[in-house]
Amino acid sequence: QRALGAELPGAEVLVVSNREPYIHNHIEGGGINVQIPASGLVSAIEPVIRACGGTWIAHGSGSADRDTVDAADRIAVPPDAPSYALRRIWLTEEQQDGYYYGFSNEGMWPLCHIAFVRPAFRESDWRYYREVNEMFADAVVREAKTRDPIVLVQDYHFALLPRMVRKRLPKATIVTFWHIPWPNAETFGICPWKEEIIDGLLGSSILGFHTDFHCNNFFETVDRFVESRIDRERRSATLGGHETLVRPYPISIEWPPSALAGQKPVPACGAAVRSRFGLGEGVRIGVGIERFDYTKGIVDRMHAVDALLQNHPEWLGRFTFIQAAAPTRSKIASYRALQDEAVALADEINARHGTPDWRPIVLSIRHHDPAEVFELFRAADFCVVSSLHDGMNLVAKEFVAARDDERGVLVLSTFAGASRELVEGLIVNPYYAYDMADAMNRALTMPVAEQEARMRQMRALVRTRNVYRWAGQMLLDAAQLRRREAIETLA
Ligand code: F6P
Repeated sequence: QRALGAELPGAEVLVVSNREPYIHNHIEGGGINVQIPASGLVSAIEPVIRACGGTWIAHGSGSADRDTVDAADRIAVPPDAPSYALRRIWLTEEQQDGYYYGFSNEGMWPLCHIAFVRPAFRESDWRYYREVNEMFADAVVREAKTRDPIVLVQDYHFALLPRMVRKRLPKATIVTFWHIPWPNAETFGICPWKEEIIDGLLGSSILGFHTDFHCNNFFETVDRFVESRIDRERRSATLGGHETLVRPYPISIEWPPSALAGQKPVPACGAAVRSRFGLGEGVRIGVGIERFDYTKGIVDRMHAVDALLQNHPEWLGRFTFIQAAAPTRSKIASYRALQDEAVALADEINARHGTPDWRPIVLSIRHHDPAEVFELFRAADFCVVSSLHDGMNLVAKEFVAARDDERGVLVLSTFAGASRELVEGLIVNPYYAYDMADAMNRALTMPVAEQEARMRQMRALVRTRNVYRWAGQMLLDAAQLRRREAIETLA
């Protein structure tokens, strides 16, 4: 907010993302409820736009969304203290199937994540992807009150949009953030429309990734597939005379997180979770919380729980792993298959080790509110983030932020971007169940002083490298660019 006020006086901010920050749904028996989606993107961007104001353009996806907007499809949010406008875009079922489920989530998602799920590229999905990107680009132009707004474009759903906006609003400062990994050039070469995607992204003024590694993969991809000039020192790529700065901006969470407000003390959270899940008094707790996505390593961590109980029978009857998983992208076969596999595996492990009054794995498949998620984090002896591949992973940072008692252990995949920052977590290879089981045992037996020392370090890092710094750094870079461009117009 300070960066925007001082460095970008009078600048207009527009956010573009697929997922909306508030979803309105009809509830049984009448009435409407508001849901905050399980989304790393939303957790990161929402506090920023809440602080600086502006317009957020996103796909209206809730059953009651249309009932809550005005004639221009806008609604003031957050619902309890409005500070910015949410502009909803409506998509037909065919557009949603082609652009979101098809090209974005059966094409780009498996292409960019190494999870050994084969990407599917269909001509018709690509057509809808282009069409929806055009629709959102038109919406940016319609919503913009100035000719040089700052447009914050989010994620792989909108790879073509930066170029489309650049054509319509040449003076806009377009800052695009890619929330998922960027693969190496050879892998990206699988995509039949690689040149168009690179060209689309290079319409941005600034293109951000989580890590330097992903920036380098992007440079390598640009170099391989399009005629451009890459300046590694300036960290930029120039295509058709337009330069795009390509920089790492490790994403984070708000500090302190709003979900922490109103939380009970840690022992009371433990008691509440024990009673909700029917766990005995002395039973120790591990948690995993995320969308039910095949990149998250959910099945792999269940195998690790199985291995833990085999290798350390002392935990039989004394430890339960609670997996909270929000259903996601369920129209896609690989997501349904994962869910079926996880349910069957949990049943199998529970049948193998469990007793009539104790289950080693509790699977809670539904949406969990941020307050519930934080209560689980606070009740846990350890939290597992076992992503097979992940840009950053904000669950790891939220767990750390939830533990103001400085206790609890983070078991963290080496393949999540977060492992580059949260080095005091127990870093594991999620493909190796015995490695993860070993880390779980270490977490359950870790002396309090060591837990506190590790947690303090991680909390200090997330406190300072919070989401305001993430957004602030991008906005400062945008401000510098705008000043440079203003000087060039004087020359
Ligand atoms: O983690 C990548 C990401 O695209 C987030 O940026 C996004 O919020 C999340 O996946 C959720 O996906 P979806 O919006 O498809 O539910």
